[in-house]
Amino acid sequence: MERTDILKDPLKALSAISETINTIYDLDELLRKILDIVLKTVNAQRGMVLMFEDGQTDKLRVRLSHNIDTPPDQPLDRFSRSVVEAALKEGETIISYNILQDDRFSTAQSIAEQKIVAAACLPLRIKSQPIGAIYIDSTETRGQFRPEMEPFLNAFAHQAAIAIENAQMYERLRIENRRLRKTLQSKHEISGIIGRSPAMLRVLETIRNVADTRATVLILGESGTGKELVARALHFNSRYHDKPFIACFCGSLPETLLESELFGHKAGSFTGATHDKKGLFEEAHGGTFFLDEIGDISPRVQVQLLRVLQEREIKRIGENQPRKIDVRIIAATNKDLKKEVEEGRFREDLYYRLNVITIYMPPLRARGDDVILLAQHFLDQAAQKAEKPVQGFSDDAIEAMRNYSWPGNVRELENCIERAVLLAKSDFITSKDLQIEPEGRISSLPSGLTMQEYERLIVEQALNEHQGNVSETARALGVSRRWLHYRLKEWGL
Ligand SMILES: Nc1ncnc2c1ncn2[C@@H]1O[C@H](COP(=O)(O)OP(=O)(O)OP(=O)(O)O)[C@@H](O)[C@H]1O
Ligand SMILES: [Mg+2]
Repeated sequence: MERTDILKDPLKALSAISETINTIYDLDELLRKILDIVLKTVNAQRGMVLMFEDGQTDKLRVRLSHNIDTPPDQPLDRFSRSVVEAALKEGETIISYNILQDDRFSTAQSIAEQKIVAAACLPLRIKSQPIGAIYIDSTETRGQFRPEMEPFLNAFAHQAAIAIENAQMYERLRIENRRLRKTLQSKHEISGIIGRSPAMLRVLETIRNVADTRATVLILGESGTGKELVARALHFNSRYHDKPFIACFCGSLPETLLESELFGHKAGSFTGATHDKKGLFEEAHGGTFFLDEIGDISPRVQVQLLRVLQEREIKRIGENQPRKIDVRIIAATNKDLKKEVEEGRFREDLYYRLNVITIYMPPLRARGDDVILLAQHFLDQAAQKAEKPVQGFSDDAIEAMRNYSWPGNVRELENCIERAVLLAKSDFITSKDLQIEPEGRISSLPSGLTMQEYERLIVEQALNEHQGNVSETARALGVSRRWLHYRLKEWGL
């Protein structure tokens, strides 16, 4: 952007400049660019960017300088300090077109020494909080500053502060996300099980303790909490890891098919049994057999399983000769098995045989910040799969994930992050990309209202959530803006 362009069409120049600086996320590079623009605009030879340290308004430090020899930790000379202080105090750009005739500033030695003829300072503010300032001066008589530049500089300082805030935020997120990734890589995990909450550390401890034994394990927990993952971890962290791991989904098969799957059959034992078939228990010989959804098996299969657990032998359908099996049995269910026993749907003796070691998978909402660790893990996976440079989460996304109750547990989180990565428009996933609703909206509605009254309540709630923005509210509710306007008018809102 040339100086003449700025003079000719300052608005156009400003928007072009904003566009450039808003895409620079590296703070040092951004500050260099900002200073460069200011120097060129006013035709100044020297300049520096000063920033307050960590939001402390008494610690102004030189972040960057051009042609001015101030070591970063050295205080400013008296003259430039008086200009900067005045600008920060007024909260406005200060331009001194001719210093020798300007009695606002101490015409100190430094001017004489450095032959400064003109100087200016632009305070940088975010939401009216000062964050720093840009100081420039000119040592050439020809390089006098021109008044018509002032509006441009004011607007530019505003834009620059926003870009600086963005870059600082970006930097903070990058550091935070790097920290999360480091935590993920730490030693606490067992082959892909992520979690550092006390509840999950207990689960991991149990896995370590019992993996190498042949004891039967019952894994309980809500849907999507990682029961299958734990079953696999038990097997693959045992010394039997090179033996088979066989899983059977008991819930989905009709009784007779399940029996033949589990135990195998002799040719001719029923129609369709054309040849001898090994059952899954035999397939798993020497390894681990995982009975998933054990709460769903029929009473007859329950009896047969009980025999397997007691005798450690099976009979193929149609055979009388039992066969010895050596398998480690792991069972899992998302049902409350104890209640199933109490209500007579599950055999008590089988329950006790299965329940030698119990691993209870905590729901995700009871795992604290594991949610964030898991989210980062799924994000890395999804970003790689989608070949998108998504790096992490914005603060509001982290907040939203912490506040949500995750009824579908880890699986829901995994799906949510995958979708968010696809939706993400920047390097960081926002709460919008997550598409999770804050809790308690429907359940907090009172009962006993008419449809009309509910409608109004829901609309008011949605309006609040979108700060009264009609277009956004309409979009969120899936109604037209006209409809919404019409209703609001009807209700006198
Ligand atoms: N702690 C964890 N770390 C990493 N990934 C996990 C963790 N827990 C669960 N997952 C992932 O979440 C998804 C669901 O886990 P899994 O299938 O083991 O749950 P489940 O309890 O068997 O669910 P369901 O009851 O619905 O069968 C899987 O993709 C799994 O890899
Ligand atoms: Mg499962």
